Amino acid sequence: MEPVLDMQLDWMDQQGSWGANAEPSKQGLTLADIQVGAYGDVPDESDNMTGRPRGAGARPDSYRIGGYSVRSKHEIWLENASFLYEEALQRQWSSATDVPWDTIEPLPDDIEQAECQLATFLTEVEFVAGDVPARWIAQTTPDFFEPRNVLLAQVMDEARHMDVFRKRALANGGGLMGATGGTAGVVGSIDLARDFTEMSSRLHISGEGAVLTIFRMGELMAYNDAEKAMYRLCAQDEARHVAFGVMHMRYMSETAPERREEIDCYLDEAERQILAGSQNPAGAQAESSESLAILLGGGKDQYDEGVNKLIAIRRRQLQEYQKRVRSASFGERFDNGRSPIKEMLAASAA
Ligand SMILES: [Fe+2]
Ligand SMILES: [Fe+2]
Repeated sequence: MEPVLDMQLDWMDQQGSWGANAEPSKQGLTLADIQVGAYGDVPDESDNMTGRPRGAGARPDSYRIGGYSVRSKHEIWLENASFLYEEALQRQWSSATDVPWDTIEPLPDDIEQAECQLATFLTEVEFVAGDVPARWIAQTTPDFFEPRNVLLAQVMDEARHMDVFRKRALANGGGLMGATGGTAGVVGSIDLARDFTEMSSRLHISGEGAVLTIFRMGELMAYNDAEKAMYRLCAQDEARHVAFGVMHMRYMSETAPERREEIDCYLDEAERQILAGSQNPAGAQAESSESLAILLGGGKDQYDEGVNKLIAIRRRQLQEYQKRVRSASFGERFDNGRSPIKEMLAASAA
């Protein structure tokens, strides 16, 4: 009988390294477990412009499908990317079913308005937090797929954060309030970043770091189990995003110390913004600060008490920021007088 098709089978000669036997570890078959043989070799500089999966055989006639601008390992790498990615996968949650929406009861008008204002602001914030890293994913060579995958998972997380706050605003007789534009300055500067680490220092270290502290304090401003769950689940995701930034900055500092001065300049800028914000509390962030104070105090009538609690949270934001920067190996700036917020830090520690 004639064969239906002539087989060529020349693809059988084209392969990456053969004989890989990746074995699952305690957590299952993780990205860390498949770093076997040549597949674990990550180049310091990637010349891969064709979308070739790392370790696959190259084909000479392929298109240059990616105009990848991030091709130096130190520009995006971090030591624990595989771990962060697996954790992101394991801890995905559903804003539809993991938040006990039926625990929300009608609230006094001022509290509901403050809740909705905060939810509006956070929806804006989360939108940016997904948009910005998303731009960088397609800019990065597939040879660095581990950090890329963490960023892809972040984009999914941020989509969920964006929708969970939107859901909260619509769930209890309120709705969205006026857009705060509170992200305008920050977004402007994050989005102007020409370099991944510049973007990451603004987004992961300062922006998301500040949001993480607020989520962690969510218990203090929650009025039901749904809000508690919302903040707790978001905080767990946010901690990973911040960890990405810290670990990347540490890696960059170790492998490209010549760029430390430049990174310090990004931190100078972030800290000047923190300083300006503290000197002008009624500025662009007035809606979010006032709504936070109303939620923390328990109503317009307890505004002063709320402001005091908010001051405590702002202090904690500062302390946690400092801890992150130290952990990223840029703590010197707080000891040598360079940091624009050194006086604020000293006051907040007192
Ligand atoms: Fe988020
Ligand atoms: Fe985030």
